[in-house]
Parts: sequence; structure tokens; C-alpha cells
Amino acid sequence: MTVRAGITALGAYAPAKVVSNDDLAKIMDTNDEWIRTRTGIRRRHMAAEDEFSSDMAFRSVEDLVRRFGEGALEGVDMVIVATNTPDALFPATASLVQEHFKLNAGAFDLLAACPGWMYALSVAKAYVESGQCKKVLAIGSEALTKLIDWEDRSTAVLFGDGAGAVIVEAVDAPYGISPMVLGSDGSGGGLLHVGAVGKCLPDGTKLTDKLFMNGREVYKFAVRVMDTATLEAIEKAGLTPDDIELFVPHQANLRIIDAARERLGLPSERVVVTVDEYGNNSTASIPLALTHALDSGRMKDGDRILLVSFGGGLSWAAGVITWGGGYTPRATAGA
Ligand code: ACO
Repeated sequence: MTVRAGITALGAYAPAKVVSNDDLAKIMDTNDEWIRTRTGIRRRHMAAEDEFSSDMAFRSVEDLVRRFGEGALEGVDMVIVATNTPDALFPATASLVQEHFKLNAGAFDLLAACPGWMYALSVAKAYVESGQCKKVLAIGSEALTKLIDWEDRSTAVLFGDGAGAVIVEAVDAPYGISPMVLGSDGSGGGLLHVGAVGKCLPDGTKLTDKLFMNGREVYKFAVRVMDTATLEAIEKAGLTPDDIELFVPHQANLRIIDAARERLGLPSERVVVTVDEYGNNSTASIPLALTHALDSGRMKDGDRILLVSFGGGLSWAAGVITWGGGYTPRATAGA
């Protein structure tokens, strides 16, 4: 019998510290009007000095358990943490999660820039559908503000921190995750990067230990790929844009989101926007936005939800999920 994987529970976390555009204007040459009109961002949540991706991952899983019950974690046999800001290169942040919740599971981190959580979702889907795993905990957790160059106003204003977690396991039709679109164009690696142990990229781009982004070029790439990847994902799901009840894109920039929504012909009521509150928190952005959609009653049983993300690599990912068939939410808890 064919097994189909789906998301059966989810939760999210955002740090308590909120930084408004006006707060940023006190420490750099920027202003609320510029940030809002160029990006749609009003505030972002920032991890405390002693708060890291593992801490936020723990909190997002605790939120998932609060919402869906302890049973949601029972039998998890794989933990994947998608993050660009792991506490350490090793141990994997996923191993820290496995130990924190005493799970009898394998664990690894997945590094694929902002679409990392979408890549984790695709791995979770493949593991469940192949029989490799029964239940995967797939987390996106990001302490990106720790990698920001605060001297670079064009990138510093864009990013925030947070985490989101989902359980992926077998569900009955028609629920589940449709075949996903995963792509990479490494020729654009120099447009968006943070160094690790290397000194430069193969094309000679010098690496630094803070996030570098060529905003204008990444913007053009994002608009292009949001268009092509979403249409491809919808087609892979055997649907048309009209069938999409909810669109949950990567929360990087409201103008990029609006351009994609218009190309798909979707009304704004069908799009989830959280970039105003959180800025771009990379791998956490989509699971966090999904949790908000759930809280506001916008994710209904049987809804076809289109997800898409893009980022460094350059890389991208898209897919359609049919929501439902999982645990019953028993409470809402502040993300
Ligand atoms: N405040 C005030 N002025 C600023 C700021 C700021 N924070 N940043 C730049 N400016 C100035 C520039 O210096 C420039 O001034 P000049 O004309 O005198 O030289 C002017 O504003 C226009 O700058 P642009 O870079 O052309 O501004 P643009 O309209 O392209 O917007 C932005 C910049 C918001 C970064 C846009 O390019 C963008 O959103 N790019 C995509 C970013 C993105 O989505 N990244 C996510 C990638 S994936 C991931 O999640 C890691």
C-alpha cells in the first residue's frame, strides 16, 4: 500500500525581545518609512544574548506539545533541524533536541539556507513514505541576528530570529504533502553568503564571518523563482492556482510576496503574511507562518496550502500540502 506523509502537528516560537524600525533608526542611518515601504517589515524578534538556535528549537517543540499533546512526540524516530545558525558545527542542534526531549531517534542538521526547512520537509516525507522512519520531527530554528553586520543597513534591517517545528508521519488520503520542487543555482553563490572554514568561493568571492547579501540581485532572483517554483509545485500536485486555499511563502519581503501572489492570481485573503512582525527569520519563517495561520483559523481541514521558499545557494523549494488528518489541536499558545 502506498504511504503518504503529511504534517500532523506544529508549533512555533519567537524570542521575547522585539526590535522596532524606530529602535534600529537609533543605531544606524535608517528610518521606519524606508523599511516599511521597501520590505513590509515593522518589527523583528531578536534572540537574547544567551539564547541560541537549540533554545528556540526546544521552545517550538514545547509549543507543538502544548497545542497537540504529548502523544505527538511519541515514537519520533528522526529529528532534523534546518538551521544556518547551529549552536555548533557538531554536535548537531538536532542531537541537542533529541537529548532534551529524550527521544529514541536519529538526528542531524540540514543546511540549505532559507529553504532549509522546506528541504527538511522533503526529507521527512521521503523517509516516511519509504518506510525508513515512522515519525520525523522537522524543525527550522534561526539565530540569524547573531550573524548580522550591523554596519550594513541594507541587510541589517531585514532579519529576525525564531523557530518552528512540525511532525511528519503517515496520513490518509486526501491529506499529505504532494511531490515537492527542489532547486539550486550555485552560480549565484556569491550573491548571498556567510563564511565558515573556507576563505573564498570557487569563483573567488571573498567570504566574511557576517551575512553578505546583494539585495537587488537576490530580489530579482526571488521574484523569478517564486513564480516558476510555485507553478511547478501546483502542477506536480495535479492542481491549478485556483485550487489553492492558502499561500504561505517565505517571509523575506512583502513586495516579493505580493508579486508572487499577483502572478498566481490569488486574492490577498489567501496569503499569510508575518514578515511585518518577524522580519525574515530564514528556516523558521514558513513553519512559524503556518502556526499563525492555524491560530487565526485560516488553516481548515482539507485546505490545499502552497509553500515556497528561496535563499542562499542560490536555492529554492516549493510544495503543496493538504492540511488535516493529524492530531486535534487542543489549545492555542502564543508563538
Ligand atoms: N535605510 C535607509 N536607506 C537604505 C537602507 C536602509 N536600511 N538600505 C539601503 N538604503 C538606501 C541605499 O543606500 C540606496 O541609496 P542610494 O540610492 O543613495 O544609493 C537606496 O536606499 C536604495 O537601495 P536599494 O538597494 O536599491 O534598495 P531596494 O529598493 O533594492 O531595496 C532591499 C533593498 C529591501 C534589500 C531589496 O533589494 C530586497 O528586499 N532584496 C531581497 C532581499 C531578500 O529577500 N533577501 C532574502 C534572501 S533569502 C534569505 O532569507 C537569507
